[in-house]
Amino acid sequence: MNSAESIRLDRKHLWHPFTPHAQWMDPSFEPLAIASGEGAWLVGTDGKRYLDGNSSIWTNLHGHLNPTINQAIRTQLDKIAHSSFLGLTHEPAISLAQELVHYANAKGLSPTLERVFFSDDGSTAMEAGLKMILQAFAQNGQPQRTHFISPDGAYHGDTVGAMSLGHSHTFHHHYQPVLFSSGKVMTPACYRCPFNQAKPEKADARTYRKCKFECATLAEEKIHQSGGTLAAWVLEPRVQGAAGMIMQPHGYAKRTSAAARQVGARVLFDEVLTGFGRTGYPLASHAEGVMPDVLALAKGLTGGYLPLAATLTTEDIFQSFSGGPERTFYHGHSYTANPLGCAAALANLELLHQPKNRIQHDSLVQHLQSLSARFWAHPNVGDVRQEGAILAIELIADRTTRAPLLAANRTGHKVCQSARELGLLTRPIGDVLVLMPPYCTTHNELEKMVDALLLALNKVIPT
Ligand SMILES: Cc1ncc(COP(=O)(O)O)c(C=O)c1O
Repeated sequence: MNSAESIRLDRKHLWHPFTPHAQWMDPSFEPLAIASGEGAWLVGTDGKRYLDGNSSIWTNLHGHLNPTINQAIRTQLDKIAHSSFLGLTHEPAISLAQELVHYANAKGLSPTLERVFFSDDGSTAMEAGLKMILQAFAQNGQPQRTHFISPDGAYHGDTVGAMSLGHSHTFHHHYQPVLFSSGKVMTPACYRCPFNQAKPEKADARTYRKCKFECATLAEEKIHQSGGTLAAWVLEPRVQGAAGMIMQPHGYAKRTSAAARQVGARVLFDEVLTGFGRTGYPLASHAEGVMPDVLALAKGLTGGYLPLAATLTTEDIFQSFSGGPERTFYHGHSYTANPLGCAAALANLELLHQPKNRIQHDSLVQHLQSLSARFWAHPNVGDVRQEGAILAIELIADRTTRAPLLAANRTGHKVCQSARELGLLTRPIGDVLVLMPPYCTTHNELEKMVDALLLALNKVIPT
């Protein structure tokens, strides 16, 4: 099938996620079909090569066609691709659970996460987490603990429970009538914070903020107000991804989690995006020095290869489900603990542990930091923030007033479309540009990514 014919058929039969119909069907828009990939590169069916500037929607860690992960999947495939996990078990899941427990508890923080529940993606990992917490409280004599609180803009996925835990107007407003209500506190976003008295500088707003950490104080107050009805404080630690790569002042996760524990509530961390070295080693939780009671992992779990997710929790939550069959966790999926996914995840963890990969990762993070300064040359850049291997560039209309660009102009989208022509693939969040390279990206490739994004920005907003 030639590529024009396959795009015609795509437009006839397919429905793409998070993609406006008007854009996809626009005859002047050329959809890109990916044929293959290697390392930090993706190759289109047109033969053109593109740098994977957002790690294939924040999933890929070690690059495409990684020999270790490929081999692990092949070896598993020669044994079995899938069998049920309901009342049965298998070696890849057992080994992976053991490795994940080691990974999560590597820093000896408390509580220890002893139990692993597998699901398919970030949304289902969060859905499982919230149901575990609710049922554990109900079975432990605290059925009134049904309330959840999270920051404004929080995004935990697209299932009804995961949506209810979040606060994304754009993504959720159509479904509001069927979502359960959850509490909301201000987004800990230093650049746009009403309490930050600092004048804008050419730096990450967290580094020059002048405030009294009101975002944490207000969250603590709200948590205390909920008191005995609070089931959990829910947080993407360090970085709220879909909210616009909002990077929290360090210590926010720790302070707010302590408040939740003071009122006897649980802490539910969503490390779907931030986990596996993306924002800290081993996890963002460790960088903050706080362990949640329930931890959701997905995206990078298989190195960006296969849909697999894990919800880790404590022994005491697990034990709340002991007793008669009525105390069972009646929750799961047909493909829970898929052996191919488990094999890929085991290979991913093996790669993450290799010293040479750690050195490469650290060097990538440092290089990203030094290159990030180049964005300040453009007057419509208002905030350049970085957490680990995530760089976010917030575009604004006026640097002095921080006035945003007109949303209807979709400037961020236009910049990324232009970057595509220059050989870089990434997606913006509104007018926030994102660079999130796979860890295997070389210095030269990273420079090419930054060059392309800057050139694209200058094309869309000439200076
Ligand atoms: C923090 C966070 N949680 C949950 C999800 C949902 O994950 P998935 O798309 O795998 O369902 C996402 C997806 O972007 C995410 O960024």
